[in-house]
Amino acid sequence: MSSWLFGFRGFDPDDEGRREALCTLGNGYFATRGAAPECTADDVHYPGTYVAGCYNRLTTEVAGREVEQESVVNMPNWLLLTFRVDGGPWLDLRRLEVLDHEQELDLERGFLVRRLRFRDEQWRTTRLVQHRFAHMAAPHLAGLDTTLVAEDWSGQVTFRCGIDGRVTNSGVARYRALDSQHLTDHRTFETATGIVVLHARTSQSGIRVAEAARSQVFAGGQPSDVARSLVQQGDLITHDLTVQLERGSEVRVEKIASLRTSRDAASTEPVTEAVDEVRCAPDFDELCRSHTLAWARLHREFHCGLSTSEEAQRAVRLHLFHLLQTISPTSGDLDVGVPARGLHGEAYRGHVFWDELFVLPTLTLRRPRLARTLLMYRYRRLGRARRAASEAGLPGAMFPWQSGSNGREESQQLHLNPRSGRWLPDHTHLQRHVGIAIAHNIHHYHRATGDDEFLSEFGAEMLLEITRFFAALAHYDRSRDRYVIRGVVGPDEYHTGYPGQARPGIDNNAYTNIMTAWLCRTAAEVLRELPTERRHELVEQLNLRHGEIDRWKRIAQRMYVPFHGNGIISQFEGYDQLAELDWDGYRRRYGDIHRLDRILEAEGDDPNRYQASKQADVLMLFYLLSAEELGGLLEGLGYPMPADTIPANIEYYLQRTSHGSTLSAVVHAWVLARSHRHRALEFFDHVLAADIHDTQRGTTSEGVHLAAMAGSIDLLQRCFAGIEVRDGALRLNPLWPTELGDLELTLRYQGQPLTITVTGRTATVRTAPGPARPPITCACGIRSVLLGPGETARFSLEHRSWKDDSS
Ligand code: BGC
Repeated sequence: MSSWLFGFRGFDPDDEGRREALCTLGNGYFATRGAAPECTADDVHYPGTYVAGCYNRLTTEVAGREVEQESVVNMPNWLLLTFRVDGGPWLDLRRLEVLDHEQELDLERGFLVRRLRFRDEQWRTTRLVQHRFAHMAAPHLAGLDTTLVAEDWSGQVTFRCGIDGRVTNSGVARYRALDSQHLTDHRTFETATGIVVLHARTSQSGIRVAEAARSQVFAGGQPSDVARSLVQQGDLITHDLTVQLERGSEVRVEKIASLRTSRDAASTEPVTEAVDEVRCAPDFDELCRSHTLAWARLHREFHCGLSTSEEAQRAVRLHLFHLLQTISPTSGDLDVGVPARGLHGEAYRGHVFWDELFVLPTLTLRRPRLARTLLMYRYRRLGRARRAASEAGLPGAMFPWQSGSNGREESQQLHLNPRSGRWLPDHTHLQRHVGIAIAHNIHHYHRATGDDEFLSEFGAEMLLEITRFFAALAHYDRSRDRYVIRGVVGPDEYHTGYPGQARPGIDNNAYTNIMTAWLCRTAAEVLRELPTERRHELVEQLNLRHGEIDRWKRIAQRMYVPFHGNGIISQFEGYDQLAELDWDGYRRRYGDIHRLDRILEAEGDDPNRYQASKQADVLMLFYLLSAEELGGLLEGLGYPMPADTIPANIEYYLQRTSHGSTLSAVVHAWVLARSHRHRALEFFDHVLAADIHDTQRGTTSEGVHLAAMAGSIDLLQRCFAGIEVRDGALRLNPLWPTELGDLELTLRYQGQPLTITVTGRTATVRTAPGPARPPITCACGIRSVLLGPGETARFSLEHRSWKDDSS
């Protein structure tokens, strides 16, 4: 099978949820899970359609408390298409003998193809082929094409084709105790031109949603006028299309749908727009053509080829595919962040965490505008973040750990441990480090793109306000003559407090503290480097005082970092006093201990008691900062970093991490890449397998892990190929694992499209031919080369580099 194809054979009810998530089709505006068109939500299927950024809030009483939750809304199911023969039962795979079933995702052209052959209770054999798309260039349009072949029977087939508004948000079992009916005021009707329409409204956020669908039957390749009757059953609207089929003949039904909301740009109101769009849309084949072209362009920009391993290549293609279906060129016009689980399911309710930290580098180096869009999602919520800081009695901006519509803190106050059935207080909102991730993203985006306008207009303001908040979060501890940060949670969510203490949060999380020092240093630099006039404006607007900036500089020199001997950075103060976990014992007893927190709680124990982490925490420092940067920071803080600090810390925490988050494998692959290639590749394999093999057991069906998917691409480009943009040059420092074959990828640097090939310690950079433009600087080791359009440079870290003028 080509590495452009990804799919599943057979029908496995137990696995259908994972397949639906992995076969999701989307275009950045909306996505629809790969559910069978004939199904409704039940214990096997979960048809879900999510429009980016469409959230709604509902309140439920849980464990004696009123809990308000904001969720991305499951929209009416535009996909619905089923059929029956001679008035018999509607299609239901569980009642048939399935002779063949295949779901195939065409990653190149952006289609989901389903091939089904079955024998029914009357011993009739039927073949069905369905193609669908979510249009990549016309983001409100979707299509489903169904061909049915009556292999050995003649009879009357009735297709039921329309829109199903009887949907709720019930895709995640552990949320089912919560209210899930987000849509209200349903209205269904048919237009004079035979288009079925469903209109509804989200109950709290008042977003109006309209879906419209047209259907056309083709027999013998020609449009056929069939008996058509309208069915309206509650919030379902369909057409029943009846056609007589002779033995061996086929019939085709083409369905084109439009999804619109009242949040759309260039729209009068959603119903008019949806109906209009469906009425005027070209036919299925023509839409396929333009859809395929849009994908081809994306593939050129995001090409990432591995020459040998087909399996790895397929996984990489799948990851890019899902990334680009969630954040696509369409997103550039939208107000959206990175939903942790894509638009592929309802886990984490479509919330936005710090995950863009892992997603941005892939976008920045190819479509910087998309990275900027994600940063603007934060900028628009700066006001809220300021309010949150002020309500916490602090200046600056405190961004929420979980963000949704307006940037309010959306983290849950209670969570359910499905193992114990208990609702537990949730303190993960204390992950203040999300603000540091945003500041880091701003800094790196600017470094990579040189987008001074963004920095000056938006980025610097956010960065300064975030710094202000962290500087105030830090307290001066006279006894230590150092700044300390108390009562937070680090990236490792297993530690939300000290054992036996009522006060939530831990003190002096090394990651938060060191990154705060980085932030204070960076903010002072950014301020210094802003154009004079803008600097004065911002200082005045934010009322930044000299004393404050002096304090940032002091924090950058006197932040406290806990160590526990032998150069091991303590994850937080007191970490070394915690008990050691019997890792082997737990592995023996439970097998899969990814979610050790749930196991321990169900045993009546508490993860806070142990030196056991869910994911990289201290090691995040080595992921975000180069050894030189970190060494410089620690040195500046008065903690010299001996040469073996990084390997010693990696070894220490590796033994104490359960990898309960898919992000953990990304970070571990990264930090091991330059010292333990084989172990790094093992983690890289885990990243590739995370969703494809659902390694977090049962979580993929609730949505893909988008940051890990994007992280796999970033591992190839920035980690193994060593590509980064720094000091006005594209720098390469390849240490490529030849086990993966050669790498060929496309990037865009300073507006110049590039193709880079890497193998071992050598790299070739080719610029696309084109009109004359200023050359770009490419550097590798101590050599740097200027490249104009249509030129090639070859670099080797073993040998000297040279520019190849012959190409
Ligand atoms: C991880 C977080 C992550 C979130 C969303 C959690 O399991 O611990 O770091 O942001 O998932 O992906």
